[in-house]
Amino acid sequence: MPHAAASGRLLVTGIGELVTNDPAPDREGGPLGILRDAALVADDGVITWIGRSGDAPSLEATAGSPHPHRIEVLDARGRAVIPGFVDSHTHLVFGGDRAEEFAARMAGRAYEAGGIRSTVAATREATDDELRARLAGFVRELHGQGTATFEVKTGYGLSVVDEERLARLAAEVTDEVTFLGAHVVPAEFTERAGGADGYVELVAGEMLQACKPHVRWVDAFCERGAFDAEQSRRVLEAGRAEGLGVRVHGNQLGEGDGVRLAVELDAASVDHCTYLSDADVAALAGSRTVATLLPGVEFSTRHPYPDARRLIDAGVTVALASDCNPGSSFTSSMPFCIALAVREMGMTPAEAVRAATAGGAAALRRTDVGVLRPGARADLALLDAPSHVHLAYRPGVPLVAETWKDGARVA
Ligand code: NIG
Ligand code: FE
Repeated sequence: MPHAAASGRLLVTGIGELVTNDPAPDREGGPLGILRDAALVADDGVITWIGRSGDAPSLEATAGSPHPHRIEVLDARGRAVIPGFVDSHTHLVFGGDRAEEFAARMAGRAYEAGGIRSTVAATREATDDELRARLAGFVRELHGQGTATFEVKTGYGLSVVDEERLARLAAEVTDEVTFLGAHVVPAEFTERAGGADGYVELVAGEMLQACKPHVRWVDAFCERGAFDAEQSRRVLEAGRAEGLGVRVHGNQLGEGDGVRLAVELDAASVDHCTYLSDADVAALAGSRTVATLLPGVEFSTRHPYPDARRLIDAGVTVALASDCNPGSSFTSSMPFCIALAVREMGMTPAEAVRAATAGGAAALRRTDVGVLRPGARADLALLDAPSHVHLAYRPGVPLVAETWKDGARVA
């Protein structure tokens, strides 16, 4: 189990602005469902009450809870509380880094999917304990920046043994693990060794079987330099036949088949969506597939930012995620992604905060996170600020004071 829920009662009082993502007539902020001067109660990690501070159960009443002896009180002292961020896209199990590649890019070199292979080599060399320690460090970073729920992909192993290893290690820290054997074709799959199609058969067969016990999702990088639509479909359908949910990396480096394929397969999410045709936008708008935008990638590859405004205006559900990985986006910060989305992608602060919470939950097809209402998990970020707007208004400032997950403080 990646994380133990709190047992007992948590009472959060004095919340100046509570972003619930649960709109109601007596709340402000449209879809953000903002309640002012609010309080929240959680029992055993699940929210049981939300309302005005003045109406909050007193400590005496709290003593009648199922766990009268374990009561924790958090006084927000007028600050804002939002749902813990849901980072629905990361690649956190890897060895080495690619600082040199980043520096070269900032000097003018283009980003290419092939850079992934150098991380594959470093990851294969790392021991389980080295990868575990690295992963634990990233989890601390995520929690420290307000993220309560996060997905982790495999994809830097690219052999049966190494992909199984990465899936197993990822499952030690999250329930949201994605099998991304179809990240790129590894160097050893030369044409004589079966080439891309031979590798795809391995991914859809033995590698999927080895990873299946540890993962909830299957993903494929459908992009020039990685896998074409037919190869991606082969892997995604094999995963789906094993009961895995589908997600797709697509339309990152140019227009392509990723969005179309994702919608056709009813994927939970198609991620990147940087280069979209009108037909892609229309297909997304008529589907359940979330468009997950990853502005850290455009920041560190110098591609143009995705146009969130175009998607939102067309009625597409948008999520924001970090894509934290050593190549295209080495940030674990959802506040940074929110600031970029507001400044560069046409989102309002409210839309960006919602995309980083409820949007991420939708991309993972979860209804118990990314929202604060009775029955949802008590996953909260307490901001050192009076309002969620400050996340974009004060870029680069560490505004997350505390992060709580399942009613327990994690940062
Ligand atoms: O999401 N797009 C494919 N995979 C990663 C990049 C991985 C890498 O460059 O190491 C991404 O951007
Ligand atoms: Fe990615």
